[in-house]
Amino acid sequence: MRVLLIGAKGLLGQALAATFSTEDLVAVDRDVIDITDKVALQKFCHEVRPEIVVNAAAYNAVDEIEKNDEAAKQAFVINAEAVGYLAKASIENKALLIHFSTDYVFDGAKDSPYIEADHPKPISVYGRSKLGGEEAILRLAEHGLKYYIIRTSRLFGKSSGAGKKTFVDIVLEAAAQKSELQFIDDEIASPTFVSDLAMAVKEMLMSRPAFGVYHRTNDGYCSWYELAKTVLNESGAYSINHATPDRKYINLRPIASKDLPRPARRPAYSVLQSTKLAPLRHWREALREYIISNHL
Ligand SMILES: NC(=O)c1ccc[n+]([C@@H]2O[C@H](COP(=O)([O-])OP(=O)(O)OC[C@H]3O[C@@H](n4cnc5c(N)ncnc54)[C@H](OP(=O)(O)O)[C@@H]3O)[C@@H](O)[C@H]2O)c1
Repeated sequence: MRVLLIGAKGLLGQALAATFSTEDLVAVDRDVIDITDKVALQKFCHEVRPEIVVNAAAYNAVDEIEKNDEAAKQAFVINAEAVGYLAKASIENKALLIHFSTDYVFDGAKDSPYIEADHPKPISVYGRSKLGGEEAILRLAEHGLKYYIIRTSRLFGKSSGAGKKTFVDIVLEAAAQKSELQFIDDEIASPTFVSDLAMAVKEMLMSRPAFGVYHRTNDGYCSWYELAKTVLNESGAYSINHATPDRKYINLRPIASKDLPRPARRPAYSVLQSTKLAPLRHWREALREYIISNHL
């Protein structure tokens, strides 16, 4: 299977590159091809002639995009317009396009998990830019584009080089330096291990379900506070809110999102339910594996 992976140096991109390394893989990032350059992208895709195009490129700086007009413009170019270019190049090469989207396309007002058919209603500029990417694909689906739009949430995993740190690593670093930590307790979603997501993508390529929108996250859900607490417990190095010998004491407090003002609004509840495919393993099990193999 000839696979063109775009955004290969990002957090998810690195996990996808590892998972697809046994395939005929061309893994690139912005230094090789900038997806916002329509002509260069089209030429590059014609040269590579992929059967599968996996787009893990995105502009994800949620707060920067909200407060800075230039960043917002960039977000729409990368997350929406360029996705249209990729979709067009995929049709021209008869390739299947796999694209990632986010729980932030929903407003969070629902009190049960969002299913694929729920109507998106983003409450941030980032969310609107990602919805723009979904719409660009759906427009070309009417012209024969083969596609999977995969919505996911709260990615964690190992990221080296230019890849960014995720919440799990940020919590462990903060706990090593401080003894008082506080995290938001009223934003609920599903943490997702990038290696599990990458494997789930590979499985979709084997089983080839119908083209469309899919929800792929680890099973279960939690707040940021509960995730932080689980991370600290799993690391085995900290005792939380009560002193224990041989472990560093951490005073861990839940806070409300209104007490941590940030430029962009986040959905209060954005659990994604998969009605089309079997759920992935529980996030606690995936987190344990990640911490054991990277932090112990
Ligand atoms: N992270 C999460 O928690 C999360 C949650 C839900 C959904 N998602 C979705 O999952 C996907 C992967 O996210 P991620 O967290 O892995 O992203 P990431 O770590 O920010 O990686 C994105 C990659 O895309 C590259 N890129 C950006 N603009 C590009 C361009 N114009 N041309 C080519 N490459 C470009 C970036 O390169 P530079 O470093 O040079 O910019 C970076 O290597 C995205 O679609 C995202 O919306 C992520």
